Amino acid sequence: MHTFQKVSEARLGQIAENLSSHLSSPFTVCLWGDLGAGKTTFCRTLIRSLCPHVDHVPSPTFTLIQEYVSSRGAVWHCDLYRLKSMDEIEELGLLDALHDKICLIEWPERLGHFLPENRLDLRLTIAADLTRTIEMQCQGAVYIDFNCL
Ligand SMILES: Nc1ncnc2c1ncn2[C@@H]1O[C@H](COP(=O)(O)OP(=O)(O)OP(=O)(O)O)[C@@H](O)[C@H]1O
Ligand SMILES: [Mg+2]
Repeated sequence: MHTFQKVSEARLGQIAENLSSHLSSPFTVCLWGDLGAGKTTFCRTLIRSLCPHVDHVPSPTFTLIQEYVSSRGAVWHCDLYRLKSMDEIEELGLLDALHDKICLIEWPERLGHFLPENRLDLRLTIAADLTRTIEMQCQGAVYIDFNCL
């Protein structure tokens, strides 16, 4: 596991941008953390970096999924906070997407046993001084050199 301490919003954007250059489909990033921790902020910068032609990256709070097209393949930005049932995961096409798209998933705990084995876990916590602590861990066959971020 790698821990980034005292992460400002600017530094968080830099990490997201650096990470984007290491992604190609299929790849899953699971973003863990409380309300307001910075999950969407991270995804927004990562998506802008992968899809420079996109100028609006809304939070998928109500749509659950926003899809983008990038030169590295389709990108799905998912916010599963309002997922109503486990059945919805399959109905939305998320299980297929996990196999062939770049998936950025907020509230991945909602996936339960569908949480993919191969993924990058990114946990955001808000420090007392309001900077963020980011813990990153590769799971399964995923490898990212954290020193490049
Ligand atoms: N160092 C930082 N990193 C990320 N966001 C920061 C930082 N400092 C302040 N912020 C602010 O914190 C807020 C984070 O909100 P964001 O929507 O990204 O959180 P979230 O984790 O997606 O929440 P939710 O669970 O509601 O989807 C933004 O308003 C952002 O400007
Ligand atoms: Mg969010």
